[in-house]
Amino acid sequence: MEWIQTPCQLLSLDRLTLTLANTAVRARLSLDMSTGSVARCFTHALRTASDWAAPVASSSRLLSPARAMPTRAFAGGQRILGHACACCRGQKRAYSSYPTERPGAGAFAPRRKRTIMDFNSLKKKKVPVTMLTAHDYPSARFIESIAPPAPAPGAVPAPAGSSSSAAPRGIDIALVGDSLAMVACGYPSTNYLTLDEMLYHCRSVARGCTTSFLVADLPFGSFSASIEDGVRAAVRLIQEGHMDAVKIEGGPEIVPLIRRLTEVGIPVMAHVGLTPQRQAALSGYRVQGKTVSSAVKVWEDACAVQDAGAFAVVLEAVPSKLAAWVTERLRIPTIGIGAGAGCDGQVLVQLDMLGVDSDLGAGGKGPRFLKKYADVGERAREAVRSYVDEVRRREFPTEGEHTYPIEDKAWEGFLEAVKETEREA
Ligand code: KIV
Repeated sequence: MEWIQTPCQLLSLDRLTLTLANTAVRARLSLDMSTGSVARCFTHALRTASDWAAPVASSSRLLSPARAMPTRAFAGGQRILGHACACCRGQKRAYSSYPTERPGAGAFAPRRKRTIMDFNSLKKKKVPVTMLTAHDYPSARFIESIAPPAPAPGAVPAPAGSSSSAAPRGIDIALVGDSLAMVACGYPSTNYLTLDEMLYHCRSVARGCTTSFLVADLPFGSFSASIEDGVRAAVRLIQEGHMDAVKIEGGPEIVPLIRRLTEVGIPVMAHVGLTPQRQAALSGYRVQGKTVSSAVKVWEDACAVQDAGAFAVVLEAVPSKLAAWVTERLRIPTIGIGAGAGCDGQVLVQLDMLGVDSDLGAGGKGPRFLKKYADVGERAREAVRSYVDEVRRREFPTEGEHTYPIEDKAWEGFLEAVKETEREA
């Protein structure tokens, strides 16, 4: 059996209740978990429970954490070798088949990895799914750094169904989109990006972004020749790129590949509407679904990929009315880009929404659907200009602020030592 070290994560009350047989102990744990006063991790909870339960221990099946853990906790597919939660501090916890906490642990959840179940439940609750591209380590860190922090030790969890569901959750899905070909590599289209280049970017993103669900595009050509090619490419994105899922552009023609990947356990996000890998065949980056036949195609493509097993579908550049209509009828979440607010979630290209690139087409404005939330490009240019000016004026580096001193004694010793060899250059 292989043990995987992961950060300590919190367990929900139902796992604990499943674990504990004694009703009195369960009641006490229930109290502790709901007030957040004592038991905040499994090991700690068991200790607390068994301390409290000492008088009834002889009649309880839970005699001590030491006895309870290897039997009952292990039976749940999980074994605790130590832990690092705020209440117990220090050690790490190891898992076998439960690498992440299950969804829905409420306000006590630390920065927990997002899962497909989360996206389905967000769709049900009509809470928008947030998705943003990340193309390298810094852009992944931007995403990770706005993830909600773990609650302070002792914090009281919000009751289920309270406004906490509307609280900021950060970015649910980080997409290593093949848009990186154009915005990060300077290629004229996404079709120039190879699988090996994609893998390099995926690994950088995976190092920086640990709690968003990670999805990467299968690059153009990596899945076109055969299903086997597609499976091999997808496996590489998971195994070598450290992604959680793959995204594939297309409709009925990718159905067999989606089926196969779903069978082998690789989650697929589909992408219909404007599919940039086919921009040449589509005569450019054009809005799709504006005519009857094109709108029907968007609907049929979305149904086909859903029925094949895709867990979500990107709708790109389709009329908002059509996107909302499709969203209402699909079981899986739709993620819109240029498809209006009626989708279950939204995605943008991070470099574009940050306003990094001045060369976006349409006179620098980029596509109509793009909203720039910052002008990072202009700020960067100002900074580079200032640097150049200050270097030329010898204002940078500033003595004492950006420089390292040497003690007078050492300096005099140095001059003495090089007296013989000192000469004009
Ligand atoms: O490549 C990409 O970044 C994408 C998104 C724009 C959806 O496919």
